[in-house]
Amino acid sequence: MKINGQHYRTIWLAQDGWRVVVIDQTRLPFRFETVSLGTAEQAADAIRSMVVRGAPLIGATAAYGVALAMRVDASDEALAAALALLGATRPTAVNLHWALARMRRVLSSLPAEARMAAAYAEAATICDEDVALCRAIGEHGLPLIREIVARKPAGQPINILTHCNAGWIATVDWGTALAPIYLAHDAGIPVHVWVDETRPRNQGAALTAYELGAHGVPHTVIVDNAGGHLMQHGQVDMVIVGTDRTTARGDVANKIGTYLKALAAHDNGVPFYVALPSPTIDWGVSDGVAEIPIEERAAREVTHLSGLAEDGEVRSIRAVAPGSNAANPAFDVTPARLVTGLITERGVSAASAEGLARLFPDLANKAAS
Ligand code: MRU
Repeated sequence: MKINGQHYRTIWLAQDGWRVVVIDQTRLPFRFETVSLGTAEQAADAIRSMVVRGAPLIGATAAYGVALAMRVDASDEALAAALALLGATRPTAVNLHWALARMRRVLSSLPAEARMAAAYAEAATICDEDVALCRAIGEHGLPLIREIVARKPAGQPINILTHCNAGWIATVDWGTALAPIYLAHDAGIPVHVWVDETRPRNQGAALTAYELGAHGVPHTVIVDNAGGHLMQHGQVDMVIVGTDRTTARGDVANKIGTYLKALAAHDNGVPFYVALPSPTIDWGVSDGVAEIPIEERAAREVTHLSGLAEDGEVRSIRAVAPGSNAANPAFDVTPARLVTGLITERGVSAASAEGLARLFPDLANKAAS
């Protein structure tokens, strides 16, 4: 992704070759600032406080967090402690646990003196793989966009609604839900994106709008409750969202409010696609509503809003009557029956156990054995 003409991934190594640099997403869209992480604790804090966020980027940051821990102490105890620290940061995105399990697999069989170099190498591989997976998602999603465009009057833009931020900034590069959109735009297809603001943290208004704008993709930010109305009036041709954890039968956990969009899409015959790389599939879980842990975040995210004040400072203001309680479940689960298809790096699958197992027989069989 290019920001001001310069290509950026969302995570990279500093000049010193060991510190880990990330973009501070809590400062976007008003400030583009980077943060350098020097310890596993700092990596864990960055994930917990959502300096970095989005399932794939959380996994990549955690992998580098393990590498940072191995610089200090590469004993079995230190490895176990780093995995536990990082694994406890956010509960819903399964990419976190996938990345940590992979780091454990690679490192635990090595002698301590070999672990630091191996950890950095594995974290770098996870990042490179994420870029390739997201690019492939884009390529498999593009024909779906083309099909819909082909049915519209010539020259009319396709209107795609998305929720939260499943773009470049949620991954190492490209994004998941936004990858097909970027490729369509780059191919000259007229695309317009409806961007759900995504309360309470406004990942849509702050991050999706920012990166679509940086890439020149026409978009309009809407309040979270506008999608159903737009669908009733034929103004949404398709929905594409990301996911933090998709079960073996295709139930999809994603940012709170995704389920309501899926219901509205179903009621209005609007195709509802979910884009995901295979590390987001939790092969050990089937019933998403019953089994996926849903993160409950601080009430302050609901009671307060933050934004750019007229004096040019980013400020937080209270929006809820003092004394009222606030609840903040951060994700919800969309049952597979409401999902038109899953766009993965290997192609588009039905949201079903059979569909996923057909695309990923190796992974499905491994989980079953
Ligand atoms: O709480 P967040 O901002 O980490 O939630 C992110 C999402 O819900 C994304 O849609 C999901 O991680 C997919 S990112 C490619």
